[in-house]
Amino acid sequence: MLMRDFIDDSLYNPHYGYFPKQAVIFTPGAPFDFGVLKGEAEFQKELGVRYTEFEDALDNQEENETRQLWHTPTELFRPYYGEAIARYLVTNYKLSLYPYHDLLIYEMGAGNGTMMLNILDYLREMHPEVYECTRYKVIEISSSLASLQLHQLRQSAHAAGHLDKVEIINKSIFDWDTYVSSPCFFIALEVFDNFAHDAIRYDPYTDEALQGSVLIDHEGDFYEFYSRQLDPIAARYLRVRNAAVSSPYSHPLKSPRALQKLYHSLPLVMNLTAAEYIPTRLMQFFDILHRYFPGHRLVTSDFHSLPDATPGINAPVVQTRYKRRTVPVTTPLVHQGYFDILFPTDFAVMEDVYRAITGKLTRVYPHEDFMRRWAYVEDTQTKNGENPLLGWYQNASVLTTV
Ligand SMILES: C[S@@+](CC[C@H](N)C(=O)[O-])C[C@H]1O[C@@H](n2cnc3c(N)ncnc32)[C@H](O)[C@@H]1O
Repeated sequence: MLMRDFIDDSLYNPHYGYFPKQAVIFTPGAPFDFGVLKGEAEFQKELGVRYTEFEDALDNQEENETRQLWHTPTELFRPYYGEAIARYLVTNYKLSLYPYHDLLIYEMGAGNGTMMLNILDYLREMHPEVYECTRYKVIEISSSLASLQLHQLRQSAHAAGHLDKVEIINKSIFDWDTYVSSPCFFIALEVFDNFAHDAIRYDPYTDEALQGSVLIDHEGDFYEFYSRQLDPIAARYLRVRNAAVSSPYSHPLKSPRALQKLYHSLPLVMNLTAAEYIPTRLMQFFDILHRYFPGHRLVTSDFHSLPDATPGINAPVVQTRYKRRTVPVTTPLVHQGYFDILFPTDFAVMEDVYRAITGKLTRVYPHEDFMRRWAYVEDTQTKNGENPLLGWYQNASVLTTV
């Protein structure tokens, strides 16, 4: 199968995929009281304590040595991170849509449902006139997370008040087939990183792109091989990028030609370049936005770089957790379902690709800049002046449609 299909299968197969079987999103319980913490070091320590408590509680329900735990800014900085997003939404809604349109929010991949609750709580308290005309729809691939989101809504009388505003749609965005003509905001936080990529290597003599596939033999061993025949989706991505992207970007053929030829003529060196991972699924997501959500405005955040990545350009981090330790490996060709496979997003490239597909204009901010603009940063400031909402997630960016 194509590398893209192999990664999709590893992450999303309903029977053994990483998402349905292993993934749990950490929640710290009560929000952190940043004002009483000495600094970022104490925040880190307190977080460690809550992490252990969270895993102990999970182990009491069910022992699982390979359980995967994520933590996201939505969870670590709740409700302040969600409130920053809510402020951005209300301001932009009031600028151009209020009072002629409802505030319609789609959230793809809502995790524990925390962002949804934080936004709705904020609107109800601070902008009741907007809350009145708000509708919130979640598109969630994981049935266990979709149930959890509903459970969160029903759990307390406080959150239950939002029930009639929310619809939770348990399906993958890639199966979406409903036309939404109304203007809407479309939120996607830490979802792109798990969208499958294709692997491409180039012939250094002809510059021809070859597409990677994975073969699994009868003993379960993996082999990667490359074909000169590109499938239509990978071919389209390369065409769109070629036409749309003006700024320079990393590419295996970009080292000087003479050096490349010399390198590839050395004995034992592969006759193809290093692998480049291209975000074919992300391009297909932009196609869906363009086709079914013509009036959308995207609000998305993800990692622009990741430590401990496997070799290659735009290559993924592949890791598992074993007995509460994170174990990175050096290839995505590993036993399906046991490993998280997450990719960085090249925001400069994807901004151009998004613009070309949707015809919309965008802005990209470093995470810190976006938070300085929209968060009440004093909520997350510690005693010594350090502010984890600003200092953490330096490797994340935010892209919005303007
Ligand atoms: C890393 S979690 C982030 C959760 C949440 N946005 C947050 O920041 O806390 C990724 C979320 O995206 C969902 N997801 C992944 N692929 C998806 C797809 N193709 N369609 C819809 N949801 C998806 C996962 O089930 C999960 O809820």
